[in-house]
Amino acid sequence: MNKRSMRFSSLQTRSRAASFVVSFTMGVAALFLCPPSPADAGEHLRRLSAEIAVMKADAGRLVKPGHLSAPNIKGIKDRLRGALSVLPLLVRAARNTGPDLPGLDGSRTVDLRSALAANDIEKLRAGLEELAAAYPFDTAGLLPPDNRSEALRRAREIHEAHCAGCHDDSETAEEERPAWDFFKLAKAIPPEELAARLVIGVRGDSLTALDNPLRNAEISALIAFYYSGK
Ligand code: HEC
Repeated sequence: MNKRSMRFSSLQTRSRAASFVVSFTMGVAALFLCPPSPADAGEHLRRLSAEIAVMKADAGRLVKPGHLSAPNIKGIKDRLRGALSVLPLLVRAARNTGPDLPGLDGSRTVDLRSALAANDIEKLRAGLEELAAAYPFDTAGLLPPDNRSEALRRAREIHEAHCAGCHDDSETAEEERPAWDFFKLAKAIPPEELAARLVIGVRGDSLTALDNPLRNAEISALIAFYYSGK
């Protein structure tokens, strides 16, 4: 059993009901299994726009990757490649419930994938910038971070029970897709980016299907908690 699956099974024993599966593929599978309901409209758009915001930020990290290890860089590129493949499907899901949203011509993501393959990061960033403008990430309900003491207490509880096992003190350099330490990350990135990462980062299990198992209020409190530095 490798380290991550050990961490995972210990977490499952601690909290079976709330075992989180962090998986891009599962999220996409859930997208097909669960036909969108009108209530999902905002959620699909938020997920799509958060995905684009994270892609944009990740592409930005590749501009000066000096502080990242080779496996980290490979992990970021793999993630971008996967996200570009799945983006047209996220757009389709968002348009099912928000028909006024602009469509996404598949050739645009193909172009961006070619730019990534050619390591043309500037072209990739410019393309993602355009997409971010077409599908802006609305942070209502997430920002400003909820830093009231009750919210911070709740965020600490959530973090310690469900996130810390994987995300705190995780070694990052040798892993391609590490569970980043959010306290460190908060020191390096703006709140909008952390919000976008939290919106797409936590995938629900089969109980919660596509929905992020965290409510907006909880994400908002977690953002405040991560910026408070423990
Ligand atoms: C079982 C271990 C595990 C648990 C528990 C876990 N995570 Fe993660 N998380 C990971 C791993 C591994 C990744 C990196 C996955 C990847 O890049 O494909 C990740 C990625 C993320 C990301 C995406 C970061 C980015 O690069 O954009 C966010 C956000 C996130 N997790 C938040 C949380 C929160 C909040 C909790 C608790 C509610 C949590 N995770 C619980 C293992 C875990």
